[in-house]
Amino acid sequence: MRHANHEILISAQDIQARVRELAAEIDAAFAGKHLTIVMISNGAIIFAADLVRKISIPLHLDTISVSSYIGTRNTNQVNILSQLKLDIKGRSVLVVDDIIDTGQTLAVILDEFRGMQPVDLKTCVLLDKNIGVARQVVPDFTGFEIADKFVVGYGLDYNEYYRNLPHIALLDQES
Ligand code: IMP
Ligand code: MG
Repeated sequence: MRHANHEILISAQDIQARVRELAAEIDAAFAGKHLTIVMISNGAIIFAADLVRKISIPLHLDTISVSSYIGTRNTNQVNILSQLKLDIKGRSVLVVDDIIDTGQTLAVILDEFRGMQPVDLKTCVLLDKNIGVARQVVPDFTGFEIADKFVVGYGLDYNEYYRNLPHIALLDQES
């Protein structure tokens, strides 16, 4: 396994600049609301950690854990592995994920959360993969649109590796 062969798609600097813009959009959209940010771990933890530190309105923070991918293959089955610890009833909820691919993960989580009676339920993803078909879920806040390629870094993994890269890179399938 080599790290050096990955082609950088989005630099660490470009990510930080865009995360700052997203934080400003979120500050404006949720001003005066009772905001709870729910990050989907493990993929979203790096993005969410940077994002929340650039948001200035008061917020609660919670995590939920799901799994759907094995290697570069989507298993088409989203399993919720851990539940929320905070009560989201009556709160404005922003679900943060690293990437939207088929949209199944977000669809399952939004379904689950709707039953918990938040007053508002929105989504934010760093990356939106252009898969060329309409999805059930359209993210409310998107960092970057990318081509339909498997990417790693900045929280995104391949078999749990590469989450620590500071940039987004194309996975070198040879390594
Ligand atoms: P979806 O349910 O198909 O939208 O898939 C979303 C989840 O799959 C994300 O939260 C990621 O964990 C994972 N995923 C999708 N595409 C990639 C990728 O290119 N690299 C790494 N993980 C990915
Ligand atoms: Mg994920």
